Formats: sequence, C-alpha cells, structure tokens
Amino acid sequence: MSLFSIKDLSKEQIMSIIKRAIEFKNGANAKIDQPIANIFIEPSTRTLLSFKRAENKLGMEIYDLDYDKSSFVKNETIEDALLNMQSIGINNFIVRSNVESWWKGFDHSKFNIINGGDGIDNHPTQALLDAMTIYEKFGTLENLKMLVIGDTFHSRVFKSNKQLWEKFNSQVFSVSIHNENASVIDSLMPEMDVVMLLRVQHERHKEQISIVNYNRRLGMNNERADMLKDNAIIMHPGPLNRDIEISSELLYDHPKNVIIEQAGNGLFTRMAILEMFCKNI
Ligand code: CP
Repeated sequence: MSLFSIKDLSKEQIMSIIKRAIEFKNGANAKIDQPIANIFIEPSTRTLLSFKRAENKLGMEIYDLDYDKSSFVKNETIEDALLNMQSIGINNFIVRSNVESWWKGFDHSKFNIINGGDGIDNHPTQALLDAMTIYEKFGTLENLKMLVIGDTFHSRVFKSNKQLWEKFNSQVFSVSIHNENASVIDSLMPEMDVVMLLRVQHERHKEQISIVNYNRRLGMNNERADMLKDNAIIMHPGPLNRDIEISSELLYDHPKNVIIEQAGNGLFTRMAILEMFCKNI
C-alpha cells in the first residue's frame, strides 16, 4: 500500500495515524520484520533521519541508497530502480524526488511506497506530523484557523497541509511572497490558532527573491507573537532561516513556539505511517 498524497487518505485514516503516533509517543512498541530502502534524491535532514529512527525502532532491516553513488546519476528511472530492488527482496520504499508525481505512468501497485516529498506538490508525512502536533495542542483538527506565510507556491508542505486541514473544516489563510501584505498578516494574527512559516525556496526560483526586511514584512517576530491568542502556536516545517522567517528571540523557548516538538513528532508519526503502509493495516 502506498502513500503519495494526503488526498489518498480519509479523515478516519488520518485520525488513526495520529492516535497510533500518540501511542508510540507514550511508549507503545511494534515490530515490522521487513526490509526497507530510503531513496532520497533531494536533500533532507528531518524526513530522512526521522524515518530511519522510526525504521530502527520498528526493527526493520534498513538500506540507504546514496544518491551520488547510485545509478540514478546514470539516468536510471525510479521505476527501474524499484523493480531491481524488489528482485533482491525489498518491497518497502521511502522516496523523495524533485519530480512531481514521478509515480504516475507505471504500475506501482506492487510496491509499498511512502512519499517523502515530490517536487513542489506533496509532503504527506510532514502534514501528518503537523496535524499530530496541532491535535495534541487543541484536542481536535476541526474548525481551527490557520495562517501560512511564505513561499506557498513552491511549498509541498503548504499544499499537503491545506488538503488535510480542509478535510477537517479548518480555515486556511495564506500570505505568499508573491502577494505579500504585512497589514493583512497583522490583522489576521489575533484570530489564528496556528501560524506556520515557510522558507523561501531560493533553489526553486529562477530569479532572486529579496529577503531585505523579510522578517518585518512577512516573518514572525516578537511584535506579531504578542498579537496572537494565548493558546496559539507557531510552527515551521524546517529547515528555517533564523531572523528571516522567524526572529531569533522566538527560538526555541518562546511558549508559543512548537517547532522542535513538531520535528520530534516526525518520529512517532512516521512509525505509525510505516506500520499502516508496510503492514497494510
Ligand atoms: N521538513 C522537511 O521536510 O525537512 P527536511 O527537508 O530536512 O527533511
């Protein structure tokens, strides 16, 4: 069974993953006696290492493909690579690629594939760990108000989160670097339950994006944090740029900042996802 997009999941499946992740956080154990390969064609710190730690905790047999030393550099397709790895007994794969929807156009039903991010389109496991963090804080995902600020067009995190939050009738507001409006951000602050900041993905822009006064224009700073409700939370999927999306004084001890907790929930969410998709439960 594969997880490519939040669109593939029902509300019930999302809640089942979150509740199982909370059980893992509270000390539950499970065993998946199967091999898995981690294929990261784009760089990663959080997704790769939290998946690896989750795989370790579940007792999986782990194989990492080093992209630079792999046959991808000789233009082998992902489909051909997966078929060849399946021939040696590996059927579970975490794949991060810079190509959107790379799985379309071939029969992927014989593999268990978990999407670790495809280009600018999907990052379902990030949205699920974000949802776990929000659920832990608010006890619900229903009828919340979320503001996402930053490079929304290039953000697979934004798109996957938006798909998830809208399933639960939560309202999603966004201010993008392409339609920036500091006064809109200021006016939304007191209403929001969640504010999520996004990195400017310079590597995906053809033209340089100005970060002059970015924090004052589009970032989170003390002034904006003070406008938030007492129980509002500040999130960022990482990697973050200090004093650009978020000012240093809000890192990491500020009571509204849940960024490290959010990253930590990546371990438990990914254990729950591995259990659901590798064991087909
Ligand atoms: N949030 C996220 O996907 O981080 P990495 O790119 O470090 O995996």
